[in-house]
Amino acid sequence: MRGWLRRRFDAAYERLLRREISGAPAHVAVIQDGNRRYARERGEDPSDGHHAGAETTERVLDWCADLGVAELTLYAFSTENFERPREERERLFDLLEAKLREFADAERVHEQGVRIRAIGEVDRLPERVRDAVDYAERRTDGYDGFTLNVALAYGGRAELLGAARDVARAVDRGALDPDEVDVAEIESRLHDDRVRDVDLIVRTGGDERTSNFLPWHANGNEAAVFFCAPYWPAFSKVDFLRAIRTYESREASWQRAKAERALALVRAFGSVELGEARDVLARLRESLPAGADVDVEAEAESESRAD
Ligand code: FPP
Ligand code: MG
Repeated sequence: MRGWLRRRFDAAYERLLRREISGAPAHVAVIQDGNRRYARERGEDPSDGHHAGAETTERVLDWCADLGVAELTLYAFSTENFERPREERERLFDLLEAKLREFADAERVHEQGVRIRAIGEVDRLPERVRDAVDYAERRTDGYDGFTLNVALAYGGRAELLGAARDVARAVDRGALDPDEVDVAEIESRLHDDRVRDVDLIVRTGGDERTSNFLPWHANGNEAAVFFCAPYWPAFSKVDFLRAIRTYESREASWQRAKAERALALVRAFGSVELGEARDVLARLRESLPAGADVDVEAEAESESRAD
């Protein structure tokens, strides 16, 4: 499509998507994939792809603010990425260092109260990146307008293994009863216990896998997953809005399924449980997103008349 036509099409599609979206997921996590393929197709170096990707990252921060997303987690460097060629790795570390410092100094970060924090095995990173992490975390400490988590030297299994080992050590020294190991005990031993559950994972670049990313926070919460073909540097606002729409419709059908299960309970247990079930249904109805409404009161009424 010619450039101007494409822009007009995107603008119209963006307006349409905005009308269809009624809210935003609280926590979006992004697998920014496809930087090197983007560069390769242009005859450029892998590092050029990562630089172009970092520009997309900045745009996504604006889109999150615009839509009311409260927390964003970026998969910036995985434990697997340590295996990349030395030259690419070092240039990626240079970029991450520069971007962390740039974000920490950016006016809008201070205006919007963006808190930056790193999650991962940060002590495996070179000193210059660790210093930049420290700088960004200190400069934004105490902000609560928006949270930006940068996953660095991050691997989901390693995070869970770390927590499991920590629990085992606490049990071993008699500080913890194995029967008392619960969700909160594990969460307190993850990289950062303030990271909230993930609502939506977005992956660019066409691969349909979640690559060891936030298994505790995403799977426990049954996060929606949106895969799309564009490489990360080419990821557009339309793609982002489509991801949010996918989250909303998945959420709506999930809430509807929950309400329907509750209705099935009313039917199964009849009058004995009806009062309680009706309360549950009324609460569920309040939490239903637009478009997911089922007439729970009418359903419960007809059930009670049938008693
Ligand atoms: C994956 O694409 C991308 C990365 C490993 C690096 C992501 C980092 C950035 C975009 C910098 C963002 C900066 C901050 C501060 C978060 P790939 O290299 O796997 O590309 P490919 O799939 O085409 O091989
Ligand atoms: Mg890749």
